[in-house]
Amino acid sequence: MTRKHSIIIGGTKGVGRELAGILAATGQHVTAVGRNPGEFPAVTGGQIEGFAGTAEEPDALLTALRQQIEKRGKLSSLVFLQRYRGNGDSWAGELAVSMTATKTLLEGLVPHFDATGDRSICVVTSNASSFVARNQTLAYHTSKAALKQMARFYAVKYGTQGIRVNIVSPCTFIKSESAAYYAGQAELQAMYAKITPLGRMGTAKEVAKTCAFLCGPDASFITGQELTVDGGLSLMLQDALAREVAGIA
Ligand SMILES: NC(=O)c1ccc[n+]([C@@H]2O[C@H](COP(=O)([O-])OP(=O)(O)OC[C@H]3O[C@@H](n4cnc5c(N)ncnc54)[C@H](OP(=O)(O)O)[C@@H]3O)[C@@H](O)[C@H]2O)c1
Repeated sequence: MTRKHSIIIGGTKGVGRELAGILAATGQHVTAVGRNPGEFPAVTGGQIEGFAGTAEEPDALLTALRQQIEKRGKLSSLVFLQRYRGNGDSWAGELAVSMTATKTLLEGLVPHFDATGDRSICVVTSNASSFVARNQTLAYHTSKAALKQMARFYAVKYGTQGIRVNIVSPCTFIKSESAAYYAGQAELQAMYAKITPLGRMGTAKEVAKTCAFLCGPDASFITGQELTVDGGLSLMLQDALAREVAGIA
């Protein structure tokens, strides 16, 4: 039996790296894309291959990924986690990396999915797709919001081919790259714990597990849906939170 093959755009760090480990542990070949290929430990049963390519040049990346599919097998799942991390103009950069690259790669890779079995696409956005954060750019907010509607559009378009498309929207989480920072921010962590119904910050692994669920056969009749991974934070009424934080009942 041929091994399943998943591609993760933005698979070399943070959530993508965690997801690569989860999928490979189920026996898959995982192609983890980043501007730098990264290094991955050996995984029993599966394999993670770091793959260098930039979403800033989506046509070239598409060509390279089609060649990778020739070598490693047809696709079972495709996950988009990349965000703009360049130094140039954030509007042009974010729209290119988040939106244009997702459109070009998604449409260009759909014909390379397996003909049978569970096939799915997962697009990771952010709570900044619905709320406004002062520490993020307009481009980030705009592209994350657009990605959600893009995913719904593709869920309808490709549903007839049996390809599911879903959305994961996390709030700020702790990843291995930011663990040391948050470990030194006791007050901030305490505040997150206070305002989050589940009483703590989430982790990159928890976001990755949500992506793995939506990509897997247990989600076989779920498409075009958004799963918010925020410990219930978005349920809270903001002005009630202000009173809580100020200690006013
Ligand atoms: N971190 C949070 O608290 C948070 C909160 C809400 C939503 N999110 C969203 O969740 C997703 C994952 O976040 P994260 O913090 O885990 O991400 P991250 O650590 O910043 O990782 C981003 C991934 O994308 C790759 N990447 C960046 N620019 C690229 C490009 N031009 N072409 C190809 N790959 C590129 C990176 O590798 P290279 O650097 O080697 O290119 C890396 O593998 C993102 O979409 C983010 O917007 C994150």
